[in-house]
Amino acid sequence: MPAITYELIKQDPATGARAGIIHTPHGSFPTPIFMPVGTQASVKGVSPEELHDMGAGIILSNTYHLFLRPGSDLVREAGGLHKFMNWDGAILTDSGGFQVFSLGDLRKITEEGVTFRSHIDGSKKFLSPEVSMKVQMDLGSDIVMAFDECIPYPADYDYAKASTARTTRWAQRCKEVMTSPHQGLFGIVQGGMYKDLRTRSVNELVEMDFPGYAVGGLSVGEPKELMYEMLDHTVEQLPKDKPRYLMGVGTPDCLVEGVMHGIDMFDCVFPTRVARNGTAMTWNGRLVMKNAEFTSDFRPLEEGCDCYACRNFSRAYIRHLVRANEIFGLRLLSLHNLRFLQRFMHEMRQSIIEERFGEFRRNFLDNYNYGAK
Ligand code: GUN
Ligand code: ZN
Repeated sequence: MPAITYELIKQDPATGARAGIIHTPHGSFPTPIFMPVGTQASVKGVSPEELHDMGAGIILSNTYHLFLRPGSDLVREAGGLHKFMNWDGAILTDSGGFQVFSLGDLRKITEEGVTFRSHIDGSKKFLSPEVSMKVQMDLGSDIVMAFDECIPYPADYDYAKASTARTTRWAQRCKEVMTSPHQGLFGIVQGGMYKDLRTRSVNELVEMDFPGYAVGGLSVGEPKELMYEMLDHTVEQLPKDKPRYLMGVGTPDCLVEGVMHGIDMFDCVFPTRVARNGTAMTWNGRLVMKNAEFTSDFRPLEEGCDCYACRNFSRAYIRHLVRANEIFGLRLLSLHNLRFLQRFMHEMRQSIIEERFGEFRRNFLDNYNYGAK
């Protein structure tokens, strides 16, 4: 039995949106799903118990950060990442590809891998398909991501072509060394904003037969319409019996469009990052809690939300905490935003199962205010 399997429960005939279940060695979770991000083996300000209670089945962590600090030997010595951070749900680890490439001039790419300077102490480091797989095996994550290059936007055709071909060769090298039977390695489709390169990337990865596929290299600054076009073009060529993961995407509008195009998994720092900025996510859009309109607003952040913040505290109190720079205020907003996205994904899944996803989407678009309110 492979470590990671996908079970299709229902597919919306009109769009391709799908409801399913992903099975992992650390439990099964319903899809579509949003994965909270715990870059440094911690979802900022939120305990594993709180993540469990809000219904999170899987979280994401990062090879790049844990490789630099505390080092994967230490995590292995602790008994793996699940034990080290006391989280017994599923974990997906990103490969470091994206973080290293975000370093800009501080790195050098060769066929062998990437040399870069640590953002922590400036020391010289090296990541490659083999190193990334070793680190992710030490971490013991359930889902391991292939080491890739996330092509910047814009990129010219020749660069995108050469980079995508290298990402494919790197995926092959990842596959050869990722030998753990308890972990599933996902391939990452690249290809920039070029349809023929996306097609080639899909074909070459599918030929290698991974237990799941991610769509990478999107939400990198391109217009949303272009992102949806690339997504549509890519997803329709992916196998139907494997999970599909859209990397780095997590605003409500992109989640709905991603699901419509047949994506099952998402991750993004957005909900926790904006929480730490004092922003609450709601079905109608964002609330900037510093705003004067909440001064004596004694309603919860969102009527009907069952999160710890909404069950116990008012907008006025949370506004006060945010203005006074109290950590607790930011923690309450993180708990709310993460629970909001769990409910959001759950509602979307129910609508697929009950054959009313189109209606869900129309309702969402009618009520959602894109900017900060
Ligand atoms: N996170 C967001 N986009 C990407 C990508 O293209 N590759 C990887 N590895 N991680 C990502
Ligand atoms: Zn809430």
